[in-house]
This record gives sequence, structure tokens and C-alpha cells, in this order.
Amino acid sequence: MNAQEKKSIDWKSLGFDYTKTDFRFTAKYSKGQWSEGELITDEVMHIHEGSPALHYAQQCFEGMKAQTAADERILLFRPEMNCERMRNTADRLSMPEVPEDLFLRGVTEAVRANTAWVPPYGSGASLYVRPLLIGIGENMGLRPAPEYEFRVMVSPVGPYYKSRGLSVISLAVSDFDRAAPHGTGDVKAGANYPGGLYATRKAQELGANEALYLDAAQRRYIEEAGSANIVISTTSNTLITPKSAAILPSITRRSIMDIARVDLGMEAEERAIDLREELDTFVEVAACGTAAVLSPVGKIWFDDTWHSFYGNGEEVGPVMQQLYDGLCQIQNGEREDSFGWTVEV
Ligand SMILES: Cc1ncc(COP(=O)(O)O)c(C=O)c1O
Repeated sequence: MNAQEKKSIDWKSLGFDYTKTDFRFTAKYSKGQWSEGELITDEVMHIHEGSPALHYAQQCFEGMKAQTAADERILLFRPEMNCERMRNTADRLSMPEVPEDLFLRGVTEAVRANTAWVPPYGSGASLYVRPLLIGIGENMGLRPAPEYEFRVMVSPVGPYYKSRGLSVISLAVSDFDRAAPHGTGDVKAGANYPGGLYATRKAQELGANEALYLDAAQRRYIEEAGSANIVISTTSNTLITPKSAAILPSITRRSIMDIARVDLGMEAEERAIDLREELDTFVEVAACGTAAVLSPVGKIWFDDTWHSFYGNGEEVGPVMQQLYDGLCQIQNGEREDSFGWTVEV
């Protein structure tokens, strides 16, 4: 595809917002079977008012990005891991699993059909891909839905935290919990998110970009930010990340841990991290996820004060810079993908 066929959009000024594209993929599940699935143009869903997705939040989603490489290939990043996570989520929410071939076909077809909307290489933007699975059909009682829709919608997006490239953000420890110790925090259920809107607002009132959650049982251990996992480089040159059954297993974070081990030669550990006890050992902190990519965290608000990290909380440190570069270069095909993570659409 050549650049002339792209939509005429000011790619560089895109924020993380919805833009209507031409096609979306949909498949329906009924009587124990998935339909073949098809591309459609209607962005509005027509579902029964009694649908469990609307009343009991029997729904889940995924988030991933397609990017244009320097050689014009369109690359997805580890889509099979999103499929696996949606399978785990569906199981936890008593929904039918979306078979891997249907999931990957839905994602691929939705991206291909919207090639004109995939931001060009070097624009700093990407095509955000949002697969969702919702329980539909009349169902007054609290029971699994009789039918389901799997849909893949896409939208070109810019950076999640306003500025382009690597920008330093801040987090405020929330007085509210995101997920219970044995709840649904480790799956991507939509129901995990609306409670966080209030926590985010409170964090923003303090001047932070997002809320940072501690474990709900003891309020000691770091869990994650509203839509991103946390990684921390320490004084012993180790990259640590919280281990908890209540956080979402971020695909970005798992990749960053591997890049730290292989490229930077660092130890990378997933373990419980006591915020107050270990604070003095934190050198660089970052939030990571598909949307956040890797966003260095300059400072964290808790116990009524700001605690700053690298460069007085204003600079990007060398570890996070290298991890960011390593990740982005694989995602946009600028370096050889020795991990075998990217998939050409
Ligand atoms: C709560 C939460 N944590 C972490 C992440 C990051 O996960 P991933 O790297 O798979 O996008 C996300 C976004 O998907 C999220 O919503």
C-alpha cells in the first residue's frame, strides 16, 4: 500500500481517542457455535435491552496495536497473547472462549480492511485494535447470556499520555482499591474499570496523571496503575515488577522484562514490592502497557507528599530509555525481532 492511499489525517496530532474507521469484524455465538464472522460497516451495535453485558457486565475486551514498519509492513505485537488472555477472561466470566483462529482472523481482517487508517511509519501514531466479547440476548436473571458477540473495532490513536515519545508522568496512590485479592483483577473484565474512573479523578485532582493501586488486603504492596503495570529499576541494577494475583498480566510488561534480561543484561524479578519499605532502592520507575507503551514515572504521591525518582522526577533515566527504545524498535520493525514477537498482517 502506498502512502497516497492513506486517509488524509494529521496523524501527528492524534490523541488516544476514537476515530470511526470503515470496517469492523463481528462474529456471533449461539447454540454452542461461533459463526464464521464477517466485516461490517455499521459501528453501532443493536443488542437486546436485557443483554447481560448491559446489566451484569458480562463482557470483556483486549487492547493491542498495529504499526507500520519502515519497510511498509504492518506489524502486530504478540497477538496470540491477547487471545490467550481473552480466553482466560472469558473462562472467568463464564463466557465461551473465542477460538484462536477466529480471534486472529478477526484482528487481521479488521486491520487489513482498514489499511488506509493505519498511521504511517514515523508518525508516532498507531492503529489501536480493540477486540471485545459481550453477552447478549434477553436474560433478566443473573445467568450467563444465551448468546455472545465477538467484535474487533480499530481506531488510529496517538499517545495515551498527551506528549509524543517518552514523557515523564506522575502517579498518586489511591485510597480506593482496584481489585480484590481473589477477584477479577487478573483478567480484562470491563467491570474492573469504571470504579477506577473515580480514583483517576482523585489522582488528577492531586496533579497526577493516574492512580496507583496498592494491594487491597494490606495496602502495602504495589499493584498497578489504572491501565498499566509497573516496572522499577533498583539500586542493585535489577528490574522488579509486582507479583500479585490481582493485577492484569501485561503483555508489554512481560516483554520488557525479557528485553531487560537479554538486551540490558539485568536481573528481572517478579515479586511482591513493599512501597514504603523499598522506596529508597527505587532508581527509575515506569508504567507500561499497550496504550502507555513505557512511560517513566517521575514521582508518586503517597502519605501526603510527593516522592521523586530519577533526575528529581523530571528526567528519563537510562534504563527506561533503553527499554523503551528496545521495545519500540521491535514493535515498528526497526531492529531484528530476535524474540519472534511481531506478526505481519
Ligand atoms: C489494568 C491494566 N493493566 C495493565 C495493562 C497493560 O497490559 P498490556 O501490556 O497487555 O496492554 C492494561 C492494558 O491493557 C490494563 O488495562
